[in-house]
Amino acid sequence: MSLTEPAFQHCTNPDCDARYPVQETLTACPACGELLDIDYDWDRLPVPRNLREFEARWGRRHEPLEFSGVWRFRQLLPFAPDDQIVTIGEGQTILQDSHAVAAWCGMNAGSLFLQYEGLNPSGSFKDNGMTAAVTHARMVGAQHAACASTGNTSASLAIFASTTRRLQVIVFVGSGKIAYGKLSQALDYGSKTIQIQGDFDDAMRQVQEVCKHEKIYLCNSVNPFRLEGQKTIIFRILESLRWEVPDWIVVPGGNLGNSSAFGKALAELKKLGLINRVPRLAIINAAGANTLWQLHEQHNLRWNAGRPDRAIIQKFYGAMDAAGHRASTLATAIQINRPVNLKKALRALDVTDGIVRQVSDQEILDAKAQVGAGGFGCEPASAASVAGVRLLRNEGVIAPSDRVVCVLTGHQLKDPTTTVAYHARDPEQFERVLGSQGVHAAPYANSPIAVANDLGQIMDVIRRS
Ligand code: F0G
Repeated sequence: MSLTEPAFQHCTNPDCDARYPVQETLTACPACGELLDIDYDWDRLPVPRNLREFEARWGRRHEPLEFSGVWRFRQLLPFAPDDQIVTIGEGQTILQDSHAVAAWCGMNAGSLFLQYEGLNPSGSFKDNGMTAAVTHARMVGAQHAACASTGNTSASLAIFASTTRRLQVIVFVGSGKIAYGKLSQALDYGSKTIQIQGDFDDAMRQVQEVCKHEKIYLCNSVNPFRLEGQKTIIFRILESLRWEVPDWIVVPGGNLGNSSAFGKALAELKKLGLINRVPRLAIINAAGANTLWQLHEQHNLRWNAGRPDRAIIQKFYGAMDAAGHRASTLATAIQINRPVNLKKALRALDVTDGIVRQVSDQEILDAKAQVGAGGFGCEPASAASVAGVRLLRNEGVIAPSDRVVCVLTGHQLKDPTTTVAYHARDPEQFERVLGSQGVHAAPYANSPIAVANDLGQIMDVIRRS
């Protein structure tokens, strides 16, 4: 295989523009160090003329590649031969038209949709990307793979390793802040789990070094193949809306892999003439991990045709390091200060006329309670998207009649500690888990009712409530 293939790895730096075959294992451009894309010579590929063509695949759901919510769109991520694809049935997700959450956000009924990525096999959107990374790992004959994680990436890599038994996996997590649901997955699926005394940003730095030295396949979102899989979240949203483009897509921002993948998907669909307009992207940071918000909204950092102002970025990180500033939020999945896909996210914002907002942990947990009471529930980081919609409605940026899709990135069961602390109203637990992060109220708490082991008293309680 060589550069005559229609799929290739392509440096995102326009002043470099280097290209590499898909057979190489790269997580940055060897020439200039910038992020890579997977790009395609679309003229030489069988591109569908119309997105509706994908509907014909629904009738062949007995075939694993058509059952997969990622690979039934493989014509739009055509880097792998069919016989190399590794699938565990990822991407069986639902778009819920949620009137209850719409009302809370100040949206009209029928205008707010929740995309439940928690329904994936490992309970988060990461499986969309991991199926693509693990497929590429198979294409290049990798035996060992690793990732750093705030918990969901590790759970996803671990489930792919346990179900397919193709890879020996090492996952790196930080200490303390990983939610128990996620840690339990990595342990239960049998992955070697290294808990570093540090946070995600530390774990990310270490795993990149380890992978370089030991020739281990890296499955974080600097891996451009992973982001190809995550494009399909956009395809499924459009599919659920019967191919009508919404006005807004709202997504939590952590390492910014999803945002980057969404921007790429939308740019490609537009270029291929498969959609006629691009929705606006709103990326929502937690206020305690708000690097993108700071850089984009406060320091005016822009994609600038592939040449973002490096001085702004260096100055920002320099000041962060000098102050010893660490990311801190109850939405532990997005507790990240140095998002590895920063530049690609700037491109996504550019392509979509996007915006960035930050929301507090209080706003996140209140939004999460609304999602739980109005639907399937989600983990804290996911609810940042809903809190973001409410904020953007209050600002008047989103209109009540706009069609808005919030991506709920992770399952409700991922982080029971935070959920129970919010609802239970046990003062000691509340203070320990939430108060230390600036959450002081639980206006939507659904507290358990304590009652004696006595039928009369139980009946009293039921009749009163
Ligand atoms: N939501 C959830 C539930 C996540 O687990 C993550 C990222 C994000 C949102 C942010 O997505 O990084 O693409 O901007 N979790 C990573 C992990 C970092 O290690 O599991 P992003």
